[in-house]
Amino acid sequence: MKTVNKIAVITSGGDAPGMNACIRSVVRTAINEGLTIFGISGGYKGLVEGELIPLSRRSVSNIIQKGGTFLKTSRSESFYHKSGRRRAADTLKEWDIDGTIVIGGDGSFHGAHAISVEFGVKVIGIPATIDNDIYGTDITIGYDTAIGTALDLIDKIRDTAASHDRLFIVEVMGRQSGFIALEVGICGGAEEILVPETKVTMEDLGKMVKTWSRAGKTSSLVVVAEGDELGNAHSIAQAMKEKYNIDSHVCVLGHTQRGGSPTATDRLLASRLGYYAVIALKDGKSDIMVGWQNNSITYIPLLETWEKKKPLDAELMKIYRILST
Ligand code: F6P
Repeated sequence: MKTVNKIAVITSGGDAPGMNACIRSVVRTAINEGLTIFGISGGYKGLVEGELIPLSRRSVSNIIQKGGTFLKTSRSESFYHKSGRRRAADTLKEWDIDGTIVIGGDGSFHGAHAISVEFGVKVIGIPATIDNDIYGTDITIGYDTAIGTALDLIDKIRDTAASHDRLFIVEVMGRQSGFIALEVGICGGAEEILVPETKVTMEDLGKMVKTWSRAGKTSSLVVVAEGDELGNAHSIAQAMKEKYNIDSHVCVLGHTQRGGSPTATDRLLASRLGYYAVIALKDGKSDIMVGWQNNSITYIPLLETWEKKKPLDAELMKIYRILST
């Protein structure tokens, strides 16, 4: 087994609060282990273009509390092609890098797995996405902060909805998954939660809205994940007006959910996973993700992290229906 001396760290895909805390953990653990550590600037695009910067303990001072990623991130078009990935692998070879830690979501893991299989690059993934939709870890870096942010905004919407006796449709992030919608929906007391994992028709929704007013509710809240099959908040509101003459107001929380200072939970998770990722690389592991399940560290093949689907909590789906009526 080749000794690991020089490693690199990259943030890729959509940013998530806690990425900075994770970079800090990777950098300081690496230095503690006697390794030289480089940061790749600008995600996979930076890797393709050779944007590497040496990092020291002081390079990561005063970032643990900051949202975003100081290394910057991107969704790189060139990385979707083998030629781009070859250039990335060449960059790592030129800089004599023995292993790379990729902090990101499933798109980033696809890329990491590809350069590992195609060019023998040693990679370890750390799950960081506000969507929480990665198999093999109970929670991803950024999720806890994002649901806190979304809930704070939903509480504010509730105040105005109640004052005006209005129905609000609130759209949260989640292109393919409803983790954010389900948890902020239940915590925010939503009457209905629309997620890509379950099918609700416009007819169902129309009927439900009418039962809420019959049950004496004067204001109500529907939380919808942006990727729901019924549509986004605007199209749902339009369809409800056209089909059932139901008036509603729309609020799209959008990218506010991606920013902000990470919560203690996210900083703790980021610190833990960063540490274990470096140790895994030093131990010769590759093409795996370090995750956190049942309060302990897990090592999952990268391929499994998207080939297996992390399910929504079925119990929670049942509970919210009982509580919301
Ligand atoms: O992957 C996280 C995520 O926040 C998704 O929920 C959302 O659809 C997407 O990123 C939007 O990302 P961007 O605007 O950066 O393309």
